[in-house]
Amino acid sequence: MNTNSKSGPDKNGFPHYMLKEIYEQPEAVRETIEACVNSAGHIALPGSGISDAEVKKLRKIDIAASGTSRHAGLAGEFMIERMTAIPVEVDFASQYCYRDPIVEPHELAVFISQSGTTVDTVAALHVARKKGAKTLAICNVADTPLTRDADAMLLTYAGIETSIAATKSFTTQLTALFLLAAHISRVRGSSNAAVDAALRKARRLPDEIESVLKQDQQCLALARIFAQYESFLFLGRDIDYPIALEGALKLKEVSYIHAEGYPTGEMKHGPSAMIDESLPLVVLATRDRSDPASRLRYEKTISTIREIGERGTPVLAVISEGDTVTPKATPHVIEVPDVPVLLQPILEVVPLQLFAYHVAVLKGRDVDQPRHLSKSVVVE
Ligand code: BG6
Repeated sequence: MNTNSKSGPDKNGFPHYMLKEIYEQPEAVRETIEACVNSAGHIALPGSGISDAEVKKLRKIDIAASGTSRHAGLAGEFMIERMTAIPVEVDFASQYCYRDPIVEPHELAVFISQSGTTVDTVAALHVARKKGAKTLAICNVADTPLTRDADAMLLTYAGIETSIAATKSFTTQLTALFLLAAHISRVRGSSNAAVDAALRKARRLPDEIESVLKQDQQCLALARIFAQYESFLFLGRDIDYPIALEGALKLKEVSYIHAEGYPTGEMKHGPSAMIDESLPLVVLATRDRSDPASRLRYEKTISTIREIGERGTPVLAVISEGDTVTPKATPHVIEVPDVPVLLQPILEVVPLQLFAYHVAVLKGRDVDQPRHLSKSVVVE
């Protein structure tokens, strides 16, 4: 039973499920937020099954997942560490199962899955349980092998996601991870004011995603320019690196074009040798003007864009509204609202989803059912 059957299995006039589900993200994020807020308006994870006493004792959080869900976990690492100061480790579920992970007392093992049936993720949860970790499943479906075997559950409310390429399940996973981090920080002593401020920022997300969706035609125009290329490099710093990975994965999944996500700061350690006019870059160059560390990262990223642009390499940049500097370094830009760093991933992934979708359509791909892929890998 899906948690929100409102989205139903028809395309509502969209040409593909993937585009419909990209456009359902404002409502999906809104529903996920409202499900994690109690009647007093505070963040509470009802029935999450982890007591405040256990949260207070937490010393480490492990996250294991597959595909797009693991990219959500990688972004969640930044959210949880910055809001709670608890160390977080993220792994491929298929690696976690076989590396005999060390699980210490007071450890929470989080398993993220849209379907709740991915065989590697369910197996990883069983390994963690056997080793004594408290287990939490973040899942889009209420009654699944993953949620049944976890100690606790945090549901996302993306509704039915039909397209094999995950989109709205990803942004609702990011939202759930942000709210989980805020909840843990409040239980461990952060002021209600700080957590309520985080909730206020999160509540603006649906409208901000709507404003990004208005850039769809710009994403189509950029897809027409970039669809000719045979390989891409996606770059992101800090919390934007998981989004670079996700943007690359989206393009690979639906258009079959090779793409690689890379930390922007790692370019000089190898990838720079590949860069020429035949290898376009997609760079996440957003910044939170109120955050000095974010501004510093942005300055480093813009100098990378300038340097690469001088080689004739085409650069597509995702930038924050009001950025007048980056458009001088590359004409190919997509703007997203200027939001706090920890919420940037939820907005900046949307243009990358649209870009991947339009490139795939231009190449005549089976967008909703890409070759060799399935919605959930239920056997090894
Ligand atoms: C793949 C899907 O099979 O499994 C991806 O094609 C998905 O879209 C991955 O991210 C993990 O699936 P789940 O259901 O565990 O999030």
